[in-house]
Amino acid sequence: MSLYDAKIIGTGKHVPSRVLTNFDLEQMLDTSDEWITTRTGMKERRIASENEAASDLAYEASLRAIKAAGIRARDIDLIVVGTISPDYPFPSTACLLQKKLDVPDCIAFDLSAGCTGFIYAASVAQQFVSTGKSKVALVVGVEILTKITNWEDRNTAVLFGDGAGAVIMTRTESSDISKIIDFDLSADGTYSDLLIQPAGGSRMPATVETVQNNKHVVEMDGNKVYKLAVKSMTQSCELLLKRNNLKINAIDWLIPHQANLRIIEAIGKRLAIDPEKVIVTIEKYGNTSSSTIPIALDDSIRSNRIRKGDLVILVSFGAGLTSGGILFRY
Ligand code: UT7
Repeated sequence: MSLYDAKIIGTGKHVPSRVLTNFDLEQMLDTSDEWITTRTGMKERRIASENEAASDLAYEASLRAIKAAGIRARDIDLIVVGTISPDYPFPSTACLLQKKLDVPDCIAFDLSAGCTGFIYAASVAQQFVSTGKSKVALVVGVEILTKITNWEDRNTAVLFGDGAGAVIMTRTESSDISKIIDFDLSADGTYSDLLIQPAGGSRMPATVETVQNNKHVVEMDGNKVYKLAVKSMTQSCELLLKRNNLKINAIDWLIPHQANLRIIEAIGKRLAIDPEKVIVTIEKYGNTSSSTIPIALDDSIRSNRIRKGDLVILVSFGAGLTSGGILFRY
């Protein structure tokens, strides 16, 4: 039962300081700045240091979101972290983040939905807020995919970067125009083998062989994922528009998952949205998986592109395959 509406009251992001450019990649692999730029839109990405883990990036992003929201960390009663590159298989990165932020007893868990992790996490948090179970929720998308990247595979190594984005969500007051209006989540496990980290789980536990055979890294069928990405993200946006009786012109901003500029442009074309309204950050950060959307959201709010009252759609897809979108008024 929905008793309350939820809204986003603060955002934050954090990316590691080390920059890896396309020109750096030219020195490491049989690739070129020209190929990467024209095929993906990426120019550079951030790489975590050896001693940085997901909860470290998540912590910095969360501190900024907490400050922007004007709350205290101890007000948080729910932490949901979308990630596929947690500090450890267990305990959850959400619990490690709770400890770092010094948040007293609260609900804390990770959620695995690939690059759709933030959309899933924010939708789950919205449900907690709307039923009154949570008053102040922290939602994070964080990823250090460069630690599970095969640096010898040019098909994937050029794509990923590291980063974290966070939002604080609370219930609305009667005077608020800001609110999360709707979300759409979906999954199709028949495509689970298209994007996978094969080893390290109970199917293929870590052995000397799994390490020698490079099975602990991301494997992807890029072409197939590409087509399904365009289809699923377009469908999600169309569903949100239709269900809420909105035409595309009513949307002020579209923030799609930043996996490939050509995917972003294809969705924009299919939706017939003004390209000026589509947020693109891919050239700066590459594909940071579950954190592309909260990072782009924070970038857009802090640069005054997204303003109070704007109508925004966030949409993503990723391993699973999962996909989903959120429609909200900021
Ligand atoms: O976040 C969710 C997960 N990821 C994605 O959404 C990614 C979705 N897929 C994509 O973005 C694109 O499929 C890629 C960027 C991964 C690949 O682009 P593409 O246009 O689909 O290229 P392709 O895989 O069809 O490869 C075209 C050629 C191949 O050479 P041949 O066989 O035509 O001689 C590849 O070997 O480009 C070659 N290639 C490269 N060349 C230089 C692949 N990677 C590279 C590279 N540098 N890094």
